[in-house]
Amino acid sequence: MTSSTATLLNVERLGKSFRGLQALEAYSLTLRTGELLGVIGPNGAGKTTLFNLLTGIVPSTSGVIQFAGVDVTRRRADEIARLGMARTFQKVRLFPALTALENLRIPLQTHERAALWQVILRTPGFLRSEAALTRAAHELLATVDLQAAAHKPAAQLSYGQQRRLELACALALRPRLLLLDEPAAGMNPTEADALMHLILRLHAEFHLTTILIEHNMRLIMNMCPRIQVLNYGRLIAEGAPTEIQGNPQVIEAYLGQAEVYAAD
Ligand SMILES: Nc1ncnc2c1ncn2[C@@H]1O[C@H](COP(=O)(O)OP(=O)(O)OP(=O)(O)O)[C@@H](O)[C@H]1O
Ligand SMILES: [Mg+2]
Repeated sequence: MTSSTATLLNVERLGKSFRGLQALEAYSLTLRTGELLGVIGPNGAGKTTLFNLLTGIVPSTSGVIQFAGVDVTRRRADEIARLGMARTFQKVRLFPALTALENLRIPLQTHERAALWQVILRTPGFLRSEAALTRAAHELLATVDLQAAAHKPAAQLSYGQQRRLELACALALRPRLLLLDEPAAGMNPTEADALMHLILRLHAEFHLTTILIEHNMRLIMNMCPRIQVLNYGRLIAEGAPTEIQGNPQVIEAYLGQAEVYAAD
């Protein structure tokens, strides 16, 4: 087996109940390196809970998660992040008073931890690493087309720019697996299309494996070769976009919620 087809994430019968409410039940997934998987489902289906369990933010109540060959079931979030799992959140989470550059330096620093004495004495090594950090931050800003906003506080960026900055912050962690929770939520169709093109480009350029939660059917059907559908915490369908569109259970789950668009 070549590394590009190796399993990066293996999830078996993962479950979470919140005081009797089964938010996720018997969820399974085998994700190969380089895949771009779409996860859809009506509101409250358990999509964000899935990400919370995978990243260790919320402990699971049942099941097993193996990531990069390590059993990470119920491991701490920081340990899982260090193994190379990064995510963005459904709602923007940036430091509003810090500039775009400063926001980006925070995740970059987790890789460039200088010793305290180097910081205090401002040794040549420390100053070199400071310069490298700033350079890396600028490069990442350029990658998401935000160079012009480098010195603006995050609060002054447009919504679309904030979402791109979050993406850059996740990339700063040099992830192997990137989890994106509704990155295009609240965007107009033009902005959403541009963001999706960016995600596709980053997925290829950074050799990522990506799981994308998205409500916009047209986008997800066009982007993801494989899609999973959750409903009331259960996996009700899995397959290529054409299979998902024609699946009676999926159509039923979405009745009254949204239209399952044809891919164009
Ligand atoms: N921390 C929590 N405590 C109690 N219940 C929770 C918690 N987190 C999620 N839930 C419940 O679990 C279910 C699944 O929620 P989740 O946020 O995973 O859905 P979702 O598919 O992401 O929905 P949306 O599309 O609206 O974002 C919901 O009924 C929700 O109320
Ligand atoms: Mg959600």
